[in-house]
Amino acid sequence: MNAHTDVNAAGIIPENSDDSTAMATETTLLDPRFYTTDFDEMDKIDVTPVRKEWDEMIAAMSADPNKGHFKKNDEWNTPDWEAMDPKLKAELIDFLVSSLTAEFSGCVLYKEMKRRGNNPDICALFQLMARDEARHAGFINDALREAGVAVNLGFLTKAKKYTYFRPKFIYYATYLSEKIGYARYITIYRHLEKNPDKMIHPIFKWFENWCNDEFSHGEAFALLMKTDPKLTNSFVNKLWIRFFLVAVFSVMCIRDHLRPEFHKALGIDIDWYDREVLRKTSDISKQIFPVAIDLENPRWEKNLLKLRQASAAMDAARRKGGIAGAFGKVGAGARAGLAFASLYLIPVKTDHVIEEDSRMVPSY
Ligand SMILES: [Fe+2]
Ligand SMILES: [Fe+2]
Repeated sequence: MNAHTDVNAAGIIPENSDDSTAMATETTLLDPRFYTTDFDEMDKIDVTPVRKEWDEMIAAMSADPNKGHFKKNDEWNTPDWEAMDPKLKAELIDFLVSSLTAEFSGCVLYKEMKRRGNNPDICALFQLMARDEARHAGFINDALREAGVAVNLGFLTKAKKYTYFRPKFIYYATYLSEKIGYARYITIYRHLEKNPDKMIHPIFKWFENWCNDEFSHGEAFALLMKTDPKLTNSFVNKLWIRFFLVAVFSVMCIRDHLRPEFHKALGIDIDWYDREVLRKTSDISKQIFPVAIDLENPRWEKNLLKLRQASAAMDAARRKGGIAGAFGKVGAGARAGLAFASLYLIPVKTDHVIEEDSRMVPSY
């Protein structure tokens, strides 16, 4: 293990790390979460129905194409953190901390599955994915350390609240977060390819190969779901899939809009970016989900905006505190609930066909 992958080492806690650890520990509905699940149930998955694709996938991941990727080289130029506009600096750090938390939360979940399992197929997969996420998290933590901040990952593992999800919810949520992670990283990368003067931090140069890892993690969850067709085809599960699509998509949009300076510096219009990322993720998710959100429906963007405004109002009320704050929170919470319900009730698209062999390769 090199320094990049040794994410639990106590040695990676430099000065000024308290604030960013606190940022990463804070749990609101919007933060990247830590998950736990019924590991025994997951251990019972039988991959026989997808054996051929499974073995090919494990072989490709074991070949470890990104083995040497997460190391700084000549391409890395440390940004001038001191000279950076304070607002931009705060938002860039927030972006890095939130990405780190998301990467690390994957690492913790995958590692735990590997540790608790006995099923060799499942353990092999989760070991490989934990390997990747540990590298990703370690690489971001290195970048944060240059800014004089870093998240104490060992502490985070203990302090962060864990949300219990049944295995099927883990599949839906994790599949989507891997694929949306891919779409986010590749969209930023392609944008910066065309606008190299907007490269505000060198980490984005690493995103192209990086997002291929996320893509293949998503493929793994798609295959896991394929082992049991009920997971994606039963009436109730389709409703759950719809719920996760709306939740993951809308939370991303809310979070991105909290970082205006960051996106301005990258030369990225947030609305354009979110639309792009959701379109890509939605197209990819048709490989396995029988329902897709109708992103073209005018009610989608209209209610997304309402949800964002309600969420901002909730945030303001929380900061205000007291009785006025409490009432404000309830009111805004109700508006948010209504907007979310409206998003959920937009008729979904079902006119796509799920192929027998639904594997995909990164193509954006
Ligand atoms: Fe990752
Ligand atoms: Fe991943």
